[in-house]
Amino acid sequence: MIKAKNIHKYYGDLHVLKGVDLHIKKGEIVSIVGASGAGKTTLLQILGTLDRANTINESLLTINEASIDKLSQKQLSKFRNEQLGFIFQFHQLLPEFTALENVCIPAFIKKTPKAKAEKRAKELLDFLGLSHRYDHKPNELSGGEQQRVAVARALINNPKVIFADEPSGNLDSEAAENLHKLFFKLRDEFGQTFVIVTHNQELADMADRKLVMVDGKIIG
Ligand SMILES: Nc1ncnc2c1ncn2[C@@H]1O[C@H](COP(=O)(O)OP(=O)(O)OP(=O)(O)O)[C@@H](O)[C@H]1O
Ligand SMILES: [Mg+2]
Repeated sequence: MIKAKNIHKYYGDLHVLKGVDLHIKKGEIVSIVGASGAGKTTLLQILGTLDRANTINESLLTINEASIDKLSQKQLSKFRNEQLGFIFQFHQLLPEFTALENVCIPAFIKKTPKAKAEKRAKELLDFLGLSHRYDHKPNELSGGEQQRVAVARALINNPKVIFADEPSGNLDSEAAENLHKLFFKLRDEFGQTFVIVTHNQELADMADRKLVMVDGKIIG
């Protein structure tokens, strides 16, 4: 599903990623752990096509058979909207929209008709135990509920891969555990691939595979 080879990233003179290689299979849940500043977020942003790696000989990034380097900005936006989902530490829901509307946004960007998008959004919110919260705005939801709305938003276009950066970083232990269980349930039901950066040891260990980043490289 994801093949990355010799990924490098410089911020000015700072060499943040120093040749990352990885290969993630369809339906796999992979966690990435490592010290603060090791380069985890930088790597996730590059894998998620939100940022570009520096072009170095023989570096390569393919997701679901698409060569990311070869896509134009426009093709890349479409690819990201249709094939990738994102969950961040801070849910980044839009405050002026309801839960239902927030979930629908990626579908509207994809030009899905309103009725169809809303039907799917409701199915996802129901699946996530939020049937009674469609019309609540983010500030009328608990932290765990907001994060589940963000998960529904990440899922609405049926992405092939979900990238999560410290998804449970802001949740209490019970909400975090529920969210983690949810990831596995989603993988089992929808076959999604997950790449999760986390400082949560339990979540990291639940994954099919745990990758450790040290100083810009994956060591295990
Ligand atoms: N836009 C930027 N410009 C310059 N340096 C940056 C930029 N983004 C990140 N860095 C630096 O790159 C290094 C890796 O940052 P990154 O955010 O990937 O770390 P991380 O492993 O996600 O850490 P944390 O666990 O604290 O989130 C850090 O030293 C950081 O200061
Ligand atoms: Mg980070």
